[in-house]
Amino acid sequence: MAPKFFATRAHLLVCQGQSCQGRGSALLYKALWNHLERQSLAYYKKGGSLRLTESGCLGACSYGPTLCVYRPKPAGGGLEEAWYAAVDFPLATRIAGAAHEETPLPEEHRYGPE
Ligand code: FES
Repeated sequence: MAPKFFATRAHLLVCQGQSCQGRGSALLYKALWNHLERQSLAYYKKGGSLRLTESGCLGACSYGPTLCVYRPKPAGGGLEEAWYAAVDFPLATRIAGAAHEETPLPEEHRYGPE
C-alpha cells in the first residue's frame, strides 16, 4: 500500500548547517514548527498547507540563518523559489503566512533568485 500523499502549497527549508546553527537556526526551526502547528498551517493539520524541513547548507553561511521556500507558480509554470538570509522568527512567520495565503512572498532579506 502506498503512503498517504499530502498536497501542499509550499515547502519551506531551514538550514541546519554548522554556521546557521551557530546563529540560532535550530531554535528558529523549532519555533517555526510550533507556529505552524498552533496556527494549523502544517500540511497534516485540517486546513494546513505547508511542509517544513531541515536542510543542509544553502550556501550563504556568513548570513544565516537561511531559509528557502518553493511553491508552484500561480499560472502553473513551474516552481517559484525565494531564498532568505538573516531570518528571524517574525520574518519566518511572514514567509509562512504568505505561502499559506498564496500572496506575494516578503521581499526583505531575500538574496535570490534575481
Ligand atoms: S550553514 Fe547555513 S547556509 Fe551554510
